[in-house]
Amino acid sequence: RRAATGRAHGKVIVLGEHAVVYGAPALALPVPALECRATVRLLDRPDPGPLLIRRAVSPACGPAEPAEEGAPEELRLLVDAFARRAGLPAAPDVEVLIESRVPPARGLGSSAATARALVHALDALFATGLGDRELFDLVQVAEQSAHGLASGIDALATGSDRPVLLANGWTSAPPVGAACQVVVADSGGGPGTRRAVAMLRAAFTRAPARRAAFLDRSAKLVGAALDDLAHGRLADLGRRLTDYHRLLAGLGLTTDRTEALTRSALAGGALGAKMSGGGLGGCVIALTATRDEADAVAGLLAREHGVPTWTVPVAKGAGHG
Ligand code: PMV
Repeated sequence: RRAATGRAHGKVIVLGEHAVVYGAPALALPVPALECRATVRLLDRPDPGPLLIRRAVSPACGPAEPAEEGAPEELRLLVDAFARRAGLPAAPDVEVLIESRVPPARGLGSSAATARALVHALDALFATGLGDRELFDLVQVAEQSAHGLASGIDALATGSDRPVLLANGWTSAPPVGAACQVVVADSGGGPGTRRAVAMLRAAFTRAPARRAAFLDRSAKLVGAALDDLAHGRLADLGRRLTDYHRLLAGLGLTTDRTEALTRSALAGGALGAKMSGGGLGGCVIALTATRDEADAVAGLLAREHGVPTWTVPVAKGAGHG
């Protein structure tokens, strides 16, 4: 029997979450830590049958999730879309084992990481040789279904090895003028991105002026932050992160726990701190200049709040794209 494996990793959104759903720019950072990787194993099935997906979610970086059998709608849609793209007469008869260590509903892009790992595994098993754009489009089939509305930033960042900027429908790697560190702290699961996106959509439908004000403020903060990042002005960049946190908090996306974590991170010397991703719980990120400072912030958060943390280094480098 033929077999293939696909892999992807988690990500955090540095700035621009939620606004990016409406076409505003956003910056994401891949989280390639071992505890934040998703693997999908595919095996040809000897006899045809309905798509069966076994899922084993590791408790490595959060409370254990029950193993689940069946095929979630978004992955079924993805496999159907792949079959059409590959010219297969029907959905392929494969066994799918998902081993995701990316904790769900934390703003870590768990759904995109699983979808991307599955797309890579399908591409390898059927030797379709899909290009980046086709791989992205397939991941987006699952993301649109999982989130209701999905900007595509998770689909991009879960397959990238460097920071990803999504702006005006284009993706690029932003220039980084000074190396820095991003501490990621997991406050636990929230109700999920779909709920947060739907909540804002309803609020913006009731009050369109609120949406315009949010998008305007978001675009200004992201634009200024990209300039700070390019010129290595880390203290200014940190302040933009904290400002963005307040912006999201003003939309009702924060929780007592994410507030407490951002406060502690700032008290512990972080240059800026914010919730990241869908919100209503989930991860908080904090910016520091050096690894020692990052370790101090991570240690404080672990001691005071008992949360798992990861530190993601951001290397200095020219942008491209
Ligand atoms: O919570 P996550 O990791 O799925 O991040 C979602 C980011 C949003 O901007 C809220 C949604 C999107 O599609 O960009």
